[in-house]
Amino acid sequence: MLSQTHPTHRSQNYQKQIWAVGGGKGGVGKSLISSSLGFTLAKFGLPTLIIDLDLGGANLHTVLGQPPPQKCLSDFLSGKVAHLSDCIIDTQYPNLRIIAGAKDDLKITEIDDHFKQRLMGEIRLLQPQFIILDLGAGTSHYTLDFFNLANAGIITALPEPTSIENAYRFLKAVYYSRILHHPNLQAIKPLIDAAMTPNNQLGIHSPSDLLNEVNFQNPGLAMELKKSIKDFKPKLIMNQTRSQTDVDVGFSMKSVAKKYFGIDLDYLGYLEYEPNVWQSVRRMRPILAEYPHSRIATHMDRMCNYLLKQARIEQTLHASE
Ligand SMILES: Nc1ncnc2c1ncn2[C@@H]1O[C@H](COP(=O)(O)OP(=O)(O)O)[C@@H](O)[C@H]1O
Ligand SMILES: [Mg+2]
Repeated sequence: MLSQTHPTHRSQNYQKQIWAVGGGKGGVGKSLISSSLGFTLAKFGLPTLIIDLDLGGANLHTVLGQPPPQKCLSDFLSGKVAHLSDCIIDTQYPNLRIIAGAKDDLKITEIDDHFKQRLMGEIRLLQPQFIILDLGAGTSHYTLDFFNLANAGIITALPEPTSIENAYRFLKAVYYSRILHHPNLQAIKPLIDAAMTPNNQLGIHSPSDLLNEVNFQNPGLAMELKKSIKDFKPKLIMNQTRSQTDVDVGFSMKSVAKKYFGIDLDYLGYLEYEPNVWQSVRRMRPILAEYPHSRIATHMDRMCNYLLKQARIEQTLHASE
């Protein structure tokens, strides 16, 4: 793999970044996108680690063409190794390392809160500058908390009604989970619990409804809530698009998220349905290694450049605060 170290990509330009890739359903391309983001950052010359956090269907190592790993997340979960960093393995690609997922499928319920906190703490301590979290399907607390841990949370959806529905469900669940953990918003927990209950008596069906209700009950907290909605900027990638109409689904989702949820969904872009993907999977080669000049590669370069630019802007803002 060519290592293109563009001046803006010098690793000293970045503080540690965690990007998470989630989204309602299985099979929507979370692992393909996580591995491609990681591959692209590594290609840019940035030290990158991808962690497979899909407890029920870990397959990141296969997507990246790695042989069955000697070490994996299970070793940390079982206490065989003391630190998550002990599970890191090199790949054949410069700057790219991974932590392979749990060997045996685990039930999310087997990860208790204490353990989840430990895992999150360990992720924060890891050295590589760029960490990509490949999340599992669904809206368990485990998945939501890791999504919220990230500097950039990326939702992946297919242009199909079931996937779109799941993506909205995920977006809503992530949002409520963010507020539940917000230190200044504990007082509105009962309202959030109501909001998370379908057909609740208060008639709260969306974050905007929640905001109206909080405004009614406690205008001071409504300001705080408004700020948290404003700060929440999840990203969206439409995957396996086959037409302009499919691409436009992303723009519709952006409008719906704004109108009904009050959330600024940042539409990063789309990846076309690429018939060659299955061949690279069969050959156990990452698609970007097999087809470095494919449309997927071009889209990934552009998305990574955009995310890196955002990371630099945020760093500058923090520095001036
Ligand atoms: N843009 C695409 N074009 C063609 N096939 C794709 C594309 N994205 C994903 N796939 C295929 O869809 C399947 C599911 O993708 P995967 O990344 O494993 O999903 P997830 O991690 O969300 O379960 C894989 O076989 C993958 O190769
Ligand atoms: Mg996956």
